[in-house]
Amino acid sequence: GMMPESETIYSFGSVCNVLLKNRGVKDATALAVAKGNGAYQALAKAGTMKPEEILEEVKKANLRGRGGAGFPAGVKWGFIPKDTDKPVYLICNADEGEPGTYKDRQIMEYDPHLLIEGMAIAARAIGARQAFIYIRGEFAWIADILEKAIGEAKADGQLSELDIIVHRGAGAYVCGEETALIESIEGKRGQPRIRPPFPAVEGLYGCPTIVNNVETLASVPFIIEKGAEAFKQWGFENNYGFKLFGISGCVNKPGVYEYPLGVSFNELMEAAGGVKGKLKAAIVGGLSVAILKAEELQDLTMDYDSCAKHGTGLGSGGIMVISEDFSIPELALRTIKFYAHESCGKCVPCREGSYTLVKILHKLLSGQGEAADIEKILGICNTVRGLTLCPTGEAFAVPIQAMVEKFRSEFDALIKK
Ligand code: NAI
Repeated sequence: GMMPESETIYSFGSVCNVLLKNRGVKDATALAVAKGNGAYQALAKAGTMKPEEILEEVKKANLRGRGGAGFPAGVKWGFIPKDTDKPVYLICNADEGEPGTYKDRQIMEYDPHLLIEGMAIAARAIGARQAFIYIRGEFAWIADILEKAIGEAKADGQLSELDIIVHRGAGAYVCGEETALIESIEGKRGQPRIRPPFPAVEGLYGCPTIVNNVETLASVPFIIEKGAEAFKQWGFENNYGFKLFGISGCVNKPGVYEYPLGVSFNELMEAAGGVKGKLKAAIVGGLSVAILKAEELQDLTMDYDSCAKHGTGLGSGGIMVISEDFSIPELALRTIKFYAHESCGKCVPCREGSYTLVKILHKLLSGQGEAADIEKILGICNTVRGLTLCPTGEAFAVPIQAMVEKFRSEFDALIKK
């Protein structure tokens, strides 16, 4: 696959030096170089531990899922039925489809062995011998990097009985949703299933399956090698550890930055070279969370609790910075066009709601809007929330509603006089 040229414009920085420690190191994807930098030492240690001990350490670290939901990984692993006679599967979710989110690709592209090591440790903890990396189709060149790294690790005897298959998706946003992802691996159309049953109990081919995000799995080697207490040197209760933040939009040095959970929004803006123009707003958890106004961002820290307290979510940690030069109604149209395109169509409120919102926002932005249109937008958002199988409905209803409510005057100004 081809590497997009835009890659070179991204900056990076790390104060924790775990997930990005090999970013910038020459040939870091080669096994010999990775091992020279400490790769597979945690796996060697895990090999001397009982599966329950690995699970216990990850639980103690309270490693919360880095894909966006923040569900504790150790608790999830613990949901695998103890007495199952079925095979157990491990799936690494590398679909990374959330707009503004480009963190997992950094790990896979620059430190694939860190992910593979994390998967091998997780597989040992849950008793899986078959694992998958479900990677979005657009990351074709990264899939090649992963396959090469898996081959090298296998030849080096690192994976013992574990087999890892790299499964290329076809670029559908919904296939990042864990049950749609499972359907896709099974060869079916990628549409979500009803949960429960959760995949941990009934997942791939009806068997217990753990689906974890790339960054979550890549965090495991540190926890096993250095211990849960070392992981807890960063962050605070319920918000421990290091986290990747992808910063884009109106900043001078867009890129991916590794900081402890709890870092202030302002410190991250400084790391990213400062805001370009006058700060108006930001969406801090990928596109699918509520937008925050400049004044709401001043005391925001980047962790699960502070984001919740501010009425938004940490999500994937993708931060999109918006300056006064940009129109929120235009952002709303761009947002909803994405979701309308990506709606899988299974749930009516998501399919029809997103389509209708595109039409209304188009009407407003082309100068044909009426006062009732704004109420219609809010009405649709209210109707969609809570009524869809997967989070995609919520993923557009929440941001669109917040954009209209917090920047109402910009929408009102579009109404035909
Ligand atoms: P969720 O909170 O429903 O589930 C999170 C995880 O915990 C899942 O793996 C689920 O199986 C597991 N889980 C929860 N309750 C369980 C139970 N009782 N028993 C067993 N397992 C249980 O969240 P969901 O729907 O998986 O993900 C939503 C999030 O995804 C959003 O917050 C959004 O930020 C994020 N997202 C990330 C994207 C990306 O590209 N990184 C793209 C789109 C959304």
